[in-house]
Amino acid sequence: MSFLGIDIGTSGLRALLTDASGKALHTEEVSYGTSAPSLGWSEQDPKIWIEALEASIGKIRQSVSEFRDLSGICVSGHMHGATLLDNQGNVLRPCILWNDQRSEEEAQELDNDPKFREISGNIVFPGFTAPKLHWVSKHEPEIFAKIAKVLLPASFLNHYLTGEFVADFSDCSGTSWLDVGQREWSLDLLKSSNLRHGQMPNVIHGCEVAGTLRIDLARKWGVGQNVIVAGGAGDNAAAACGMGVLNDGQAFVSLGTSGVVLIAREKYSPLPETAIHTFCHAVPNRWYQMGVMLSATDSLNWLSCLIGLSPSALTAKLPHTLQRPNMVRFMPYMSGERTPHNDAKVRGGFLNLSLKSDAKDLIQAVLEGVSFALRDCLTALQQAGATPDAIFALGGGTRSDYWLELLATVLNKKLLIPDQGDFGPALGAARLARIATTNENLVTVLTPPVISREIDPNTGLVEVFNSAYFDFQNSFQNYRSIKLYE
Ligand code: XUL
Repeated sequence: MSFLGIDIGTSGLRALLTDASGKALHTEEVSYGTSAPSLGWSEQDPKIWIEALEASIGKIRQSVSEFRDLSGICVSGHMHGATLLDNQGNVLRPCILWNDQRSEEEAQELDNDPKFREISGNIVFPGFTAPKLHWVSKHEPEIFAKIAKVLLPASFLNHYLTGEFVADFSDCSGTSWLDVGQREWSLDLLKSSNLRHGQMPNVIHGCEVAGTLRIDLARKWGVGQNVIVAGGAGDNAAAACGMGVLNDGQAFVSLGTSGVVLIAREKYSPLPETAIHTFCHAVPNRWYQMGVMLSATDSLNWLSCLIGLSPSALTAKLPHTLQRPNMVRFMPYMSGERTPHNDAKVRGGFLNLSLKSDAKDLIQAVLEGVSFALRDCLTALQQAGATPDAIFALGGGTRSDYWLELLATVLNKKLLIPDQGDFGPALGAARLARIATTNENLVTVLTPPVISREIDPNTGLVEVFNSAYFDFQNSFQNYRSIKLYE
């Protein structure tokens, strides 16, 4: 038996094949881009996900004989994206992504109706799915009129794989139409968006069976005819499954395109006013809460394009040991912000530049600004009663030892670096595929990873970073009040 976890990321698709015991056998990654037809917009043509999937399957088939024994597949994906299909299954327009800010006004309109927060447990953020549909209804009414199905990226691939319209609760939690406490579509909220229940996919748990792989695909890929496809997961829930983050207080921080601090919860206790997200987990009777900042490695990628060096070449310019906070401050709001500010219009900025400021100062300031924003997320989660001890760290940013020590010091938490950290959501997806296929016990499959390193806060610098964090918060209040971005 082998299992395939597929993760539709923002910058590329990753496919990971594991054996029956969950050991990683092979991983393939295919990169793609996003398009920004207007300032603050972010779109992808869903066909690039299918092309990336087929390209990675082609390579896995050639490289690993165990692929022939494929028994289960599960897809995780970047959340909130609106993939709209007509009644022939054609894609009506490019998918509007999670970091697209065009529907700020529409989000505000929906959020003004108290039932959205009451039922969905969350602020209606501009990045969520409902305001995107509201925007389409206003600006592209001819497309809105043709919508037969609204799918999230992972459920779009589920449909490609099985022919069924199925999504999972963790992913659907970010639509603003799910009753996150009861785990069902809210007819009331759908009605407020002029949508019907029949336009939504069926929702199941991520570890349940969504269907079987289409026969034509099974033949093309050279696998058996009974390959199970699991419900799937939003990428953060999938990453949590990969880390074994299931019980109250278990947590991870992700330094990906977006920055996330996520904590598992055994009870549903939303606190939307803090701008944290409260979502169903990909498994039954579990939820999670997370703070999301929108531009983590994206901020460093931006600087890397500007300076003309790769992100790793930039971080390599920093000394080996953690430095005191830089006097240059960076406001990491390149695409607006969710937690804790819920502000789609705010933009990034450097403060305190001088004629002496050099590239190294800017690099350090970017890493510090993102770390301070992640501390904002942790603070918001703590208001909701979450008290993590040590925190797993994953995502591309964890390749920088400097960033890891900085983050541990700013959060004043020990960071645990998993051996298989880089597999992230794809590993969680492969595990969900295994549970859906074999019916094994969740707890025996969704185990914490082997830790390769522990990063402690730099005790000599905790205090000075504490002061720098408060200075960052105050500076932000002044920065925001200038309203340059209005
Ligand atoms: C979560 C979110 C992002 C995306 C992309 O709410 O918007 O983390 O899932 O990874």
